[in-house]
Parts: sequence; C-alpha cells; structure tokens
Amino acid sequence: MNVLVIGGAGYIGSHMVKLLLESGNSVTVLDNFSTGHRDAILGGEVIEGDLGDQPILDRIFSSHRFDGVIHFASLIQVGESVEKPDRYYRNNVANTLNLLEAMHEHGAGNLIFSSSAAVFGEPECVPIDERHPKNPVNPYGTSKLMVERMLADFDHAYGLRSMSLRYFNAAGADPDGLLGERHDPETHLIPLVLQAASGRRRAVKVFGRDYDTPDGTCIRDYVHVVDLCEAHLLALAYLGDGGQTDAFNLGNGNGFSVQEVIDTAQRVTGRAIGVEDAPRRPGDPARLVADASRARQELGWAPRYTNLERIVEDAWRWESRQSRI
Ligand SMILES: NC(=O)c1ccc[n+]([C@@H]2O[C@H](COP(=O)([O-])OP(=O)(O)OC[C@H]3O[C@@H](n4cnc5c(N)ncnc54)[C@H](O)[C@@H]3O)[C@@H](O)[C@H]2O)c1
Repeated sequence: MNVLVIGGAGYIGSHMVKLLLESGNSVTVLDNFSTGHRDAILGGEVIEGDLGDQPILDRIFSSHRFDGVIHFASLIQVGESVEKPDRYYRNNVANTLNLLEAMHEHGAGNLIFSSSAAVFGEPECVPIDERHPKNPVNPYGTSKLMVERMLADFDHAYGLRSMSLRYFNAAGADPDGLLGERHDPETHLIPLVLQAASGRRRAVKVFGRDYDTPDGTCIRDYVHVVDLCEAHLLALAYLGDGGQTDAFNLGNGNGFSVQEVIDTAQRVTGRAIGVEDAPRRPGDPARLVADASRARQELGWAPRYTNLERIVEDAWRWESRQSRI
C-alpha cells in the first residue's frame, strides 16, 4: 500500500510509520513538527507542512495516489484545550476539514482518524463500548467528536469512507528501542513515572487517593502503542475490502490503577520512585476502561502486549536511552 501518514513524527505516528515500512508499504509523512520530532521518522518520504495549508494538500494529493490516509495530527493536551479552545478547534477541527475537502476533491479515500476516549466524557458505565453516550467534557474531546461527525457526513454525502479509532491511553514504546514517547510537556502517567525513576523528574504526582477503586487511585486502560498501530493496519485492510465507515474503541480491556503503575515501574526499574500526593483534578473519572470487542470482532484485532509489566519494560528501555542511564 501507499499510505499518507499525517502527524507521522509524533509518538504514535512514528511507530505507525515504522510498522508500515516493516510490513512492506510505501509511506509519505506530512508533519509540521510542532510537537513531533524529525529523527523519529525512520523512513519514507517526508514533507514538512501544515494541515492548514490547502495548497500543500493539493500538491500532495495531485502528485500521489494513496491507498489510505492515517491522520494523527492534533493538539492533545486536555488542560490546554480548556484554556485555549480556539487553538484546538482550529488545529483539530478546521484543519481536518481542509484534509477532507482535499481528499474529496482528489477522489482519495480510506481515512483512519485518531479519535479518543475523551469523546465519551464522564463514564455512565464501565467498560465503555461504542454505544456509550458521547458527552465530551473539554474542547479536546469535543474537537474529536466534531471530526467523527464530519466523517460520517462526508461518507453520507460523498462516499468518503473512514474509520475513527478511539484510543484509551496509548502507552509503551517500540520493542526495538528506537522510538518512544517524547511529549513536551509530558502529561501521560507512564513516562512521568519513569522520568521519576530515571531522575529526570523529582517525583510523580498522584491526583487523589479517595476514589471508589480498590486502592483509591484512578484506573485507566493502557494500550501498547504497537497494538494500536496494528489496529490501524487492520483498519486500512478493512476499508480496502469495502468495509463501512465506523468508529471503534481501542483499549486493553484491563484497567490498571495509578498505584499499580507506580508499583510495576518500581519492580521493572529496580528504582525507588518519588511520589507526591495531590488533590483530585476536576473532570478525572475514577475508572476509564474500554470495551474493545467490536474492534476484535470486526477488524480481527488481537492486542499482544496487554500485560502492564511488558508495557512498562518497553517504555523504560526508551526512558533509559533518553536519560542516558
Ligand atoms: N497519546 C495518547 O494516549 C492518545 C490517546 C487518545 C488519542 N490520541 C490521539 O492520537 C494522535 C497522536 O497522538 P500522539 O500522542 O502521537 O501526539 P503527538 O503530539 O506526539 O503527535 C502529533 C503529531 O502531529 C503533528 N501535527 C500537529 N498538528 C499538525 C498540523 N496542523 N499539521 C501537520 N502536523 C501536525 C505534530 O508535529 C506531531 O508530530 C492525536 O490525534 C491524539 O489526539 C492520543
């Protein structure tokens, strides 16, 4: 396949590029390097540009024929989205509209979109399946839901088929140690815990120990980045075989508490991890766990790295390299 990866210099996108290349596909990356890293793109054609730049999209779609487009490009910080909603609606929604217009104009199809568990908002029941009500509680989640709605409308009106994949917490790193998570600022628990283990960070904050969970800390669903990327390959094949526009949840199905992550990281790294207790954050539900049965049934997705220890080991290999341990 010939695949356009938008946001291929980012955490998940760079793992996707690696997997596509390893599986014998041709890759073109479009990235503006706002949060991504050039050295994370391990091959393929690289085009530096912004999704908001319509002439660039025109040039790309006029000069290539893609079997699929995978769209990771987005701003991803929930807290910042509350403070600067305009940035999120511009980059995540308006720029995606540019992409859809360009794809429609050039007759390109088969789009895989990185959606998020944030479209659901406060869970009414757990595990969360696709029928769960969608009531995002921040502009980040709303921006993802708006794109999902646009995708349904573009299919209805123009037959542009797409698949939204709603990731829960992406985690882990390339088992070969070449890639990993490099967000700045980092807001994800596993890299924060491992930075506290490596000494790049003094301590990790635990926001609330009085939740209705066995150890009082929040429970989240961590899905290995390589498993996520494999779901994208399957989704491309699904659309390529005539599969219908849809949205699937991607999660491990196993929730792990913040304290379990810290304990596991302590075991894996053999280091003491500084912990600082802090009050609950507004809008943090006690449990967020995916029901990913539809992705398993419809795509044949079978996540391989569902064990927390394995996820932390891979992330630690990357953190050790970053911190030159
Ligand atoms: N990381 C997670 O746990 C998680 C969970 C749910 C959903 N997602 C979604 O997955 C996608 C990837 O997340 P990530 O963690 O890899 O983020 P990331 O910030 O590491 O990667 C995003 C990439 O997109 C690029 N980009 C952003 N805006 C762009 C634009 N206008 N034009 C061109 N390139 C642009 C950035 O430079 C970066 O390389 C995002 O859409 C995010 O919302 C991530």
